[in-house]
Amino acid sequence: MTQDELKALVGRAALQYVPPGGLVGVGTGSTVNHFIDALATLPRPVAGAVSSSEASTARLRRHGIPVLEPGAVERLPVYVDGADEIDPRGFMTKGGGAALTREKIVAELAERFVCIVDQSKQVPALGGYPVPVEVIEMAAPRLVRRFAALGGQARLRPGVRTDNGHPLLDVHGLVIEDPSAFEREVNQWPGVVTVGIFAQQRAHVCLVGTPEGVRTLVF
Ligand code: 5RP
Repeated sequence: MTQDELKALVGRAALQYVPPGGLVGVGTGSTVNHFIDALATLPRPVAGAVSSSEASTARLRRHGIPVLEPGAVERLPVYVDGADEIDPRGFMTKGGGAALTREKIVAELAERFVCIVDQSKQVPALGGYPVPVEVIEMAAPRLVRRFAALGGQARLRPGVRTDNGHPLLDVHGLVIEDPSAFEREVNQWPGVVTVGIFAQQRAHVCLVGTPEGVRTLVF
C-alpha cells in the first residue's frame, strides 16, 4: 500500500469516534483531508465542525459541512488530526502544515484527541522531525540563538506565513526526552506564539495505518 492509501485508511477509521449528528474538531493536513472526505459520506451528517485552518475550512465547506468558530463551542467530544511524529506516550510533533497554533486551540476544546497517522510517523522519541515553532517576526533572531543553546538549529521556513500571519522556525537536531518540560520551557520565551510539541494536548488514541490494517493505540 502507498503512504497515501494508509492515510486514507486511518482517515476513514476515525469516523467511529465521531458522534452521529454531533460536533467534531478537525485538524489539518493530507491525512485529515481523507478524514474530511470520509465525514462527507456519513449517513447521518455531523452537525458541524470546528476547523484548525483555512485549508480545512475550505474543504469542509466544499462538502457542505457547517463550520463553527471555536468561540461558539464550549466543548467538543472529539478532535481528529494527523501528526509529523508520535511517540509511545502519545506526545506529538505537529505543524508540518503550519497550522499548529489553531490546532492546539481546537484540540484544547476536545474531550478526546484522536491522532491519525501512517506507520512512518511512529518514533521512539521526538526530535527527528524538525520542530515547527510559530513566532513573532521581530523575535526570530533571538529565538534562533536560544534554540542553538539547546543544541538545535532553527531555520525560518522560506516563503511561509501561518493563517495568523506569522513566520515559522523549523528546529533541527533536537532530542526531546521530556516533551512536557520542553513545551513548557519554550512556550514562555518571548516571541514564541506556539511550539509544535503537543504534550499538554497529547493524543488519547492513535490510529496507525499499516499494510496489515489499522492499529489502535490508547494512551
Ligand atoms: C499540520 C499538521 C499535520 O497534522 C502534520 O503535518 C501531518 O500532516 P500529514 O497528514 O499531511 O502527513 O500538524 O500543521
